[in-house]
Amino acid sequence: MFRHEGGSGRLDQANRLRRMMTVPEATAPPDHPAAHVIAVVSGKGGVGKTFISANLAIALSARGHRVVLFDLDMGLANTDIILGVEAAGTWPEVLGGRRSPGEVIIQGPGDIAFVPGASGMANIANLSEFERHQLLAVLEEIESRYDVCVLDCGAGISRNVVTLAASADTLLVVTTPEPTAVTDAYATIKAFAQERQCADTGMGGSMGVIVNQALSRREGRDTYERLASVAARFLHVPVTDYGYILADEHVPAAVRQRRPVLLDYPRCAASSCVMAMAGRLSRELGRPEARQSLFYRVISLFI
Ligand SMILES: Nc1ncnc2c1ncn2[C@@H]1O[C@H](COP(=O)(O)OP(=O)(O)OP(=O)(O)O)[C@@H](O)[C@H]1O
Ligand SMILES: [Mg+2]
Repeated sequence: MFRHEGGSGRLDQANRLRRMMTVPEATAPPDHPAAHVIAVVSGKGGVGKTFISANLAIALSARGHRVVLFDLDMGLANTDIILGVEAAGTWPEVLGGRRSPGEVIIQGPGDIAFVPGASGMANIANLSEFERHQLLAVLEEIESRYDVCVLDCGAGISRNVVTLAASADTLLVVTTPEPTAVTDAYATIKAFAQERQCADTGMGGSMGVIVNQALSRREGRDTYERLASVAARFLHVPVTDYGYILADEHVPAAVRQRRPVLLDYPRCAASSCVMAMAGRLSRELGRPEARQSLFYRVISLFI
């Protein structure tokens, strides 16, 4: 996230946030490589962002990346429920100075780190200078330890979501094949495209679509094609196809058990789709360092 202007001319996320939130450059540039930030967003609520964020994070970890999952849903934070972990502290508590950044990063299932969120956060634009500084401290702590950061964002195009997610390296817009969800996904693509254009903060990350709860491969493909063609025609924005995930009864079953579906049902249809998606993203991220944890070796059997 703390990417410094290099050959590509791109800025790190903290710098981009500093500019958007007019935070003074208080800290020295870090000397570690930047984490790749993947923001998972949607227009319509309940389309599967949290399920995808959690399981994609685990699938990327299984491929050897050091991954942290960040619950950035400031309306209804609930990623901890899907992961089945107890949150000792939350990142909004760090903003208030009640916890240190290191305290709120906990171990999640599937060899990922997890930063719990809290519901009912105020508008990010209204944070005090101290709170902004603290938010950047959390991001910097994450940056120093992990190479991939997955942001599970709230639904819709509120200022909070757009401000924090627009600067991601990869923006994943989740939709289902339902016309209402597709319409809202289009509005989301439009809002992020405008933000990236207007902010003029060097945000050059890619934007892509995931079609969740598709009834068939064909329905997934068709939904993506429809959305990509209107985005190209009316917004002149390219959106990458990050694939589809089939509707699968194992997903709600795993949620009821408070376990990631990928760990309990690694061979089910939804898990296979998530793993295929992680394979594609992993190739974009580059080769991770070889890791030989037991978890890695076991899950590698399925990918
Ligand atoms: N591929 C799928 N097959 C079947 N059910 C699914 C699938 N994906 C998600 N669901 C179900 O849809 C519901 C909503 O999923 P989830 O909480 O991940 O959505 P969300 O986009 O994060 O919602 P919110 O906007 O409230 O944050 C869950 O009950 C989940 O079990
Ligand atoms: Mg959610």
